[in-house]
Amino acid sequence: MALAATTLLLPSLSAAQYALKTDLSYKNFFSNFNLFSDADPTHGFVQYQNYDEAIKNQYVGYLNESIFLGVDYKTKDPNGRASIRAESTVTFDKGLLVADIAHMPSNECGTWPALWLLGTGVEWPNNGEIDILEGVNDYTRNSVTLHTNSGCMVNNSTMSNSTGQSGTTQQSAFDGWMSTANCDVAATDQAKNVGCSIMAPAEEAGPGKYLPTYGAEFNAAGGGVYALEWTDQSIQAWFFPRNSTEFASATSANPDPSQWGTPLAKFQGSCNIEDHFKNMTVQINVSFCGDWAGSDVEWNKSCAKKTGVAKCEDYVRDHPEAFESVYWEIKGLKWFEKTGSTQKRDLAGHAVSQLKNRAFRW
Ligand SMILES: *[C@@H]1O[C@H](CO)[C@@H](O)[C@H](O)[C@H]1NC(C)=O
Ligand SMILES: *[C@@H]1O[C@H](CO)[C@@H](O)[C@H](O)[C@H]1NC(C)=O
Ligand SMILES: *[C@@H]1O[C@H](CO)[C@@H](O)[C@H](O)[C@H]1NC(C)=O
Ligand SMILES: *[C@@H]1O[C@H](CO)[C@@H](O)[C@H](O)[C@H]1NC(C)=O
Ligand SMILES: *[C@@H]1O[C@H](CO)[C@@H](O)[C@H](O)[C@H]1NC(C)=O
Ligand SMILES: *[C@@H]1O[C@H](CO)[C@@H](O)[C@H](O)[C@H]1NC(C)=O
Ligand SMILES: *[C@@H]1O[C@H](CO)[C@@H](O)[C@H](O)[C@H]1NC(C)=O
Ligand SMILES: *[C@@H]1O[C@H](CO)[C@@H](O)[C@H](O)[C@H]1NC(C)=O
Repeated sequence: MALAATTLLLPSLSAAQYALKTDLSYKNFFSNFNLFSDADPTHGFVQYQNYDEAIKNQYVGYLNESIFLGVDYKTKDPNGRASIRAESTVTFDKGLLVADIAHMPSNECGTWPALWLLGTGVEWPNNGEIDILEGVNDYTRNSVTLHTNSGCMVNNSTMSNSTGQSGTTQQSAFDGWMSTANCDVAATDQAKNVGCSIMAPAEEAGPGKYLPTYGAEFNAAGGGVYALEWTDQSIQAWFFPRNSTEFASATSANPDPSQWGTPLAKFQGSCNIEDHFKNMTVQINVSFCGDWAGSDVEWNKSCAKKTGVAKCEDYVRDHPEAFESVYWEIKGLKWFEKTGSTQKRDLAGHAVSQLKNRAFRW
């Protein structure tokens, strides 16, 4: 009788692949995130809530196995609208964040939502900031933005070759439109704190390029997955709608960005990424008005006319009902690393419950 084969075939990871490092989804979420409840440093008309208030008022909870983060849509509070800013207690240095989002805050006038990474431990922006999903008011396209200290310029040029074709076809390194190339928040030739930014393609870019990256259109499509890859060479972001062919690959157990094609945004150039981005936390917030959404220039673009209210704060205060669809519903939030050793965290969290009365999507 032959000996039973005992060889255990371990799956080997190719160089390009990632393995799960930290799963922040569903019940892992609230045990790994603090709720920031100080005043908004960007001067929003917002009151960020602590866990006691957030749980009591059902601003946080679960929708089935999704994380729910919402805002007050019932009160005319003269001190600002109650909202949530969640920040991870764990920090990361390089890797791949995959966020499967079923619903994001609807693009109502007055809103300023963001899913982003903040470099902590030193004064902003010395460890960098990466805004993965962000916009204001009635915007319909996401912007991906980096904020750093001096010495980080990114490249807006095309790649010299198309995908394996001979000839001179030029292919862009990313699908979006770069509005600013200097990531330094103090760059003298850009407005203060703007950083380097790439906006998702416009409708004119055509049906293959224009995607529901933001707000009500994103929600109507059932959302999708945002993936952010941060290496020492580049920072890249992809968006795949839920019905896209890449969606399954992006949300698989071993996501492989080398298979995903041209990203929405790619930041690379005269920038030492290891020096400018460190020790980053995951942040998810919804602000109202403030330095960006509430500036006269922004509000006057279309919201003053659309709402018939001259000031952002007045609109946000007096129209709670406008913000019923301003919430996040996140199905998955996972951090992968190339040298992944899984940290399974399922700590005794906060007493967050199912929200039966919020079972709607848009
Ligand atoms: C909310 O997120 C945006 C992301 O860029 C950030 O600029 C803003 O300061 C955040 N709000 C707070 C309170 O930090
Ligand atoms: C990283 O940030 C945390 C706070 O998020 C801080 O306690 C820690 O000292 C920082 N570590 C480094 C190396 O900067
Ligand atoms: C561009 O493509 C040609 C033909 O396939 C190849 O010979 C050349 O090495 C490529 N150049 C770069 C910079 O990739
Ligand atoms: C990047 O290139 C595009 C297309 O040529 C152009 O419209 C845009 O202004 C450029 N951005 C910067 C920051 O130079
Ligand atoms: C996905 O849904 C959008 C509508 O949100 C539709 O325009 C598009 O054709 C669909 N794509 C696929 C691949 O089914
Ligand atoms: C930008 O990218 C192009 C094409 O890859 C390259 O030729 C150029 O040197 C780069 N510029 C900078 C400033 O990195
Ligand atoms: C915005 O619109 C208001 C009302 O029309 C006007 O008073 C104000 O000067 C405008 N501000 C800017 C910066 O456009
Ligand atoms: C929760 O799951 C049930 C059963 O699968 C489904 O009918 C319901 O629509 C789900 N609710 C939400 C908010 O996803």
